[in-house]
Amino acid sequence: MNSSDHDPLWYKKAIFYETPVKSFFDSNGDGIGDFRGMMEKLEYFTFLGVDCIWLLPFYESPMKDGGYDVSDYYSIHPDYGTLEDFKEFLEKAHSLGLKVIIDLVLNHVSDQHEWFREARSSRDSPKRDWFVWSDTDEKYRNARIIFIDTEKSNWTWDEGTGQFYWHRFYSHQPDLNYENPELREAVKDVVRFWAGLGVDGFRCDAVPYLFEDEETNCENLPETHLYFKELRKMVDDEFPGIVLLAEANQWPTDAAKYFGDGDEFHMAFNFPLMPRIFIALAKEDSLPIVSVIAQTIGIPDNCAWGVFLRNHDELTLEMVTDEERDLMYQEYAKVPRMRLNLGIRRRLSTLVEQDRPTMEMLHSLILTMPGTPILYYGDEIGMGDNIELGDRDGVRTPMQWTSGKNAGFSSTDPEKLYSPIVTRAPYSYEIANVETQSELNTSFLNWLRKMIRTRREYSETIGLGTISFPKTDNRKVLVYMRNRDDVHLLFLLNLSREPVSLHVELPEFEGLKPFEARSNTPFPAIGSDPYFFTMAPRSFFWFQLRSDENGEASD
Ligand code: BGC
Repeated sequence: MNSSDHDPLWYKKAIFYETPVKSFFDSNGDGIGDFRGMMEKLEYFTFLGVDCIWLLPFYESPMKDGGYDVSDYYSIHPDYGTLEDFKEFLEKAHSLGLKVIIDLVLNHVSDQHEWFREARSSRDSPKRDWFVWSDTDEKYRNARIIFIDTEKSNWTWDEGTGQFYWHRFYSHQPDLNYENPELREAVKDVVRFWAGLGVDGFRCDAVPYLFEDEETNCENLPETHLYFKELRKMVDDEFPGIVLLAEANQWPTDAAKYFGDGDEFHMAFNFPLMPRIFIALAKEDSLPIVSVIAQTIGIPDNCAWGVFLRNHDELTLEMVTDEERDLMYQEYAKVPRMRLNLGIRRRLSTLVEQDRPTMEMLHSLILTMPGTPILYYGDEIGMGDNIELGDRDGVRTPMQWTSGKNAGFSSTDPEKLYSPIVTRAPYSYEIANVETQSELNTSFLNWLRKMIRTRREYSETIGLGTISFPKTDNRKVLVYMRNRDDVHLLFLLNLSREPVSLHVELPEFEGLKPFEARSNTPFPAIGSDPYFFTMAPRSFFWFQLRSDENGEASD
């Protein structure tokens, strides 16, 4: 099965699920997840109802940055299996109707990559120009340092050749030089290789940083956009149907530019929205969400935001104001170890202290916002984190499958696991695990599965429709509509910790009734006055506005 056989806009209606191969399931008892393990668990994705798996980097790597330090783009890290295992995994995923996108780390490589080894072997090396070198570390001073907890400069001295090399992330991750035409082509060849194997797309890592320019902060430069347009054209021509998803953690207008005119990325993470969801929650005020949506709509029709709550990194607070960052730390990271760089290294369930109504409301939000929801493995069972682990490892612990040994992740001795299992109540594997929650009708896992199924009934409207914000008299409730043709969906989310009442102005819908989307329960008809609602703390409603009970329940 090839992605081009399908609806070309599939990614706008889909639900994505992010997981590291390492953390999902260990098939050979060495304490590390692998491709055969992923294969054994493929039915889990269909059970959950997601459409596309996003795999974190699984390439050969010294693993000093969770595999984002690639030392060979063409081979699988031996801990995870072989290329044959990968191909089999992909084939089986496709046979179950699942798509697979893979991480493409294209801004930098590991200092162990052959390209860099060659480049640093001599100033005359043919690969020298594939990296960015300088006699001084004074260049590009306006470029910020991203990993501020570990790096002091974006330049590192290379003793052997007596020059500095440029890196936006760890010093062991030299940046590639996109000014060099051979390098540009070499990266396209990497794309060709994996696309040729049949992957459905690429999550492109750290896209804003490809080029440098003295007069700028070295982010989002016009040359960077040109390169991605080139890459897009290449995949459209050679591998139609392949989807490109941008990781551009930027302010709204800069992030949206990665869609180009519909000729650059198909998708980009909605980094502007993500922290503002948590800010809105802390402030019990819908305004931060409404205003960021206003700044991020109006993208080309063939593009989609990727809407997420958490991922494998810290909850990044680089693109918020100082005041907003203080509020976030105050609300969600009181203990210093919870912070990392400019962010918070916690999982969703610990951020909201496993408050079930809040977890439901937040998921209800990402399932219905403009864009494609992207879930992070383990969040569907309220898995916890471990802030005692270094870097971002605390949010990358083994998936919790059962209440048995090693949470059912691996048969090895617990000491041999790549990471300890989360054992702290109430996030521990004894309760937060797939088996226990599958058997419990009222579990968060089963709640989410039902919501995913309900969303599927409305995926045309939610995936392709517009958003509007009816007038209300209570900013504590986020009220929005998703509209497409004659389907009108109304969503209300009470961000407050208290019960609330509110009026919603729905003049164009007078005479219709709100039908609760999951149960199809009719509410009283909309009259000429604003509609009155009462809501429990942190509760939500999904309605379809229809003329009568017998009308179509979905689109
Ligand atoms: C990835 C991080 C990684 C960094 C450097 C990112 O933005 O998401 O996990 O550390 O790129 O590759």
